[in-house]
Order: sequence, then C-alpha cells, then structure tokens
Amino acid sequence: MEIIHVSAECYPYAKAGGLGDVVGALPKYQNKLGHIAKVVIPMYRTDFLYSNQFEVVHKGGFGMAHYWFNYTVIKESTNQLGFDLYLIDINNLIDREKIYGYDDDIERFAAFQIAVVDWISKWEHTPDVVHVHDHHAALIPFMMQSCFAYKHLSSVPTVLTIHNAQYQGWMDWNNSNYLPEWDKWKWGLLDWNKTINSLACGIRCATKVTTVSQGYLNELRYNANGLEMLFEYEKGKCSGIINGIDEEVWNPATDKYINNEYSVEDAEEGKRTNKKILCDQFSLDKEKPLIIFIGRLVGEKAADLLPQAISDSLYHLDGEMNFLILGSGDPKIENQLQQLNGKFTGYYNSQTGYNEKLAHQMYAGADFLLMPSRVEPCGLNQMYAMRYGTIPIVRNTGGLKDTVKDFGEKGGFGICFTNATVWDITYSIHRAVELYKESEKVEEIRSQIMQIDHSWEYSAGQYIDLYKTL
Ligand code: GLC
Repeated sequence: MEIIHVSAECYPYAKAGGLGDVVGALPKYQNKLGHIAKVVIPMYRTDFLYSNQFEVVHKGGFGMAHYWFNYTVIKESTNQLGFDLYLIDINNLIDREKIYGYDDDIERFAAFQIAVVDWISKWEHTPDVVHVHDHHAALIPFMMQSCFAYKHLSSVPTVLTIHNAQYQGWMDWNNSNYLPEWDKWKWGLLDWNKTINSLACGIRCATKVTTVSQGYLNELRYNANGLEMLFEYEKGKCSGIINGIDEEVWNPATDKYINNEYSVEDAEEGKRTNKKILCDQFSLDKEKPLIIFIGRLVGEKAADLLPQAISDSLYHLDGEMNFLILGSGDPKIENQLQQLNGKFTGYYNSQTGYNEKLAHQMYAGADFLLMPSRVEPCGLNQMYAMRYGTIPIVRNTGGLKDTVKDFGEKGGFGICFTNATVWDITYSIHRAVELYKESEKVEEIRSQIMQIDHSWEYSAGQYIDLYKTL
C-alpha cells in the first residue's frame, strides 16, 4: 500500500511537539511492515535542511486569492530516515525559521495544503491513502472532493488523525477565496459557527478519523473546544489508535545523548550515574528524589499550576525533593518558573526552551516525571520516561489514563490523580516522596516500566488495518 502522510511537523526535520515525533516514526514502521509510507511537510529553514542532501522532484504553481504562487517539491536524497521525506517550498511564505507563530500562518498553511494536493494530482498514479494530521492539513480531504481542479482525486481514501483538537485552524469566511475554485453547494462542509473551521471540515470530509488514544476520543464527545456535537455525530467513522514511541531513538541502552547508557539489568547503577551528572549540572541534591517536567508551558499541560504546586511541596515537605523543569510557552509561566530559581536554589532549577539532548538526559537521570495535563490526547513523555525507568506522575486523562496505572492498584506502576489542581499535584508529589523511600519497591517498578512494550509495531499495524477497510 502507498500512503502519503501530510503534516506540519516531522522529526528530525521540524518538531515543536509530539506531532513531530509521531510523523517521524509511524511511516518508518509502516515501511518496515512492507508498505510505502512517505511524508510531506513544509520546507522551513531548519538545520536539517542545510546539513542534508535534497533533490528537486516537482515544480508547479497555483492561484490563491488574487496571487499566483510557484512551489517546488524537494526530496531528501539518502533515505536515512527510513521513509521518503518531501518538502514543499513556497518562496517567502513557508521558508522561515519557525514552524508556527507568524501573522500569516493561515495563508502559509492554506498554500501548503493546496501545493500538496496540486502535486499529488500531477502524479501518474494515485496513492492508496492520503493520511493528514491535525488542522494544518485537514482541508485536504475537502479539496480532493470539492475543488474542481482536483476532482479526479475524490475517490482516493483519506484519514485524518487528530493529535490535538484544541487548535482547529479557524479562517474567516472572507478568506474562502484562498481555496482553489470549489463547489459552492458544499459550503456547509467548511462552516462551523459562521467561520471556516479546518478541523471540523476534515472530520466531515475524511473517510476515517482517528485520535491518538481511545480515552481522548471518548472525552472529545463532551470536551472538544466547541466540536463536541460533531464528534458525537461522526462517532461512527472515528476510532482511537494509541501512539507508539520510536524505540530506536528512545532507548537508554543506545542513546548517544545521555552520559551513561544502561538497560533494565543495570538500571539502578545506570540511572544513579546519570542523576549525579544531572544534579551536579543544575546544583541539585542527588540524594533526594528528582521530579522533572518537560513540555510546553501552557494551560493545556496545566503548567500554570506548577509554580504554586512546586512552592507548596518544597515548603510543606521541607525540601525533601528536587525539581528540574524544561520547557517554553506562555511568557508569564516561564517567568514565574524562572523566579523560583532564586528562591529554591539547591532544590529547583528551570530551563527555558526546547532542548532535545537535555530532555533525553533528564529522562535518564530523573526518578519521577510529572504530567498534570488538563488535556492530553496521547502524551509521549510518560512513555519515554517509562522506557528510561522514570516513574510517571500523571493526571487521569486521555492517553495518560490509557497508558499509566496507579501503583496502588494490582499490577500498577505509576502515580495517578484525578483533578488538575495544586492540591492533587502536591498530594501526588507527597506520594512520590514516600514511594522513593521504599527503594525495593522503586526498583521493582522501574524494572516493570522499562519492559512495557510501547513500540510502534502494534499501532502502525492498526493503521494499516484501518486503511484496508477504506
Ligand atoms: C499532541 C498531543 C499529545 C500527543 C501528540 C502526538 O502534541 O498534545 O498528547 O501525544 O500530539 O500525537
């Protein structure tokens, strides 16, 4: 089967979050299963672009509103990623350093999607499946069905995977002329609450819709940033497929980013060494449990609760633990977390930004990973943590609920709580500190979580099974 994945991110070319990791891994595993999975993303100006070889495979052009855009499709030449990576270059529109965050993001991603459909329409054959990810690619199923120029693609099956339904790609109706000439009778497919809603349109038009965990799909029927009714109505075509992790990238036994490689047999020793190096680097106390947070500092991840929860824990539990934070996002939260650096020197450190290497070192050196997310469609960090023997402390939601079981339950191995509140977080931290005192129990849990199978093999196969039904 030939599958083309369309996304805004793909690791290692461009990653802002979990979407990049998934699109950088899933196709690789689909190829291993004997299929041909390709990826197409926008050509941002990333380091990867300048340090690798690319060849031009197609040149084309399209009109958008009153402008004409030329585009070029280039392909990574060496197949080092385990799949063919194609990039769409549109001069002055896409070739920027960041993935998101520009005033004209709407135009940028509309143009990207048109270029992708235009390019596919020029192939001599059609792919078996067009698999689009999140709202940045969610107008593609509509374009393939309802834009006159691309009508011959209307029989090609499409799958939309929702990694995050909070962001929906809203577009004013005044901009409806961004879309290539389309069948005006179909306006209802684009509209949600008097705006063009890319995600809603994708849910309606894609042949099948998946979310990145079953738990998240269930929640979307009553919490979907306004699209609840749509998820209820379209539930027949929706299913949840849990993400995997790329065990070639996330393996403590072979990880070149970490200081001391280890596996389940020598995890105690291995983690101790990594923890010591990490604690020395950030002036923390290696004798105390090390609790980390890695991720975007936004409300969705409940990062706004961290400053208070950390201060309360350090006061009430008399500095019985260390915290290390890595992330960026809301400047207010970044600031508050930075301020704690001065207040709790020796127990706490926070690093602002995105740092792939440090993230690996933190998973390797920490004892616990905190994920208090208000919304977590799947969550990969808890799985990375477990692979590195770091015990997850998670809120029971979405994919976290599907992948972590509290150690108080039979066969459980993590720390779970119900509410995204300062109180629930501090109480869970307290439980972590108590658990840490029982070193044998910790060892047992560590060995258990490091052996859980979170590999992509299973989920990649589930996607293939889904494609076969189309
Ligand atoms: C988004 C979600 C996260 C998920 C990731 C990959 O970043 O917030 O929960 O794991 O996408 O699907």
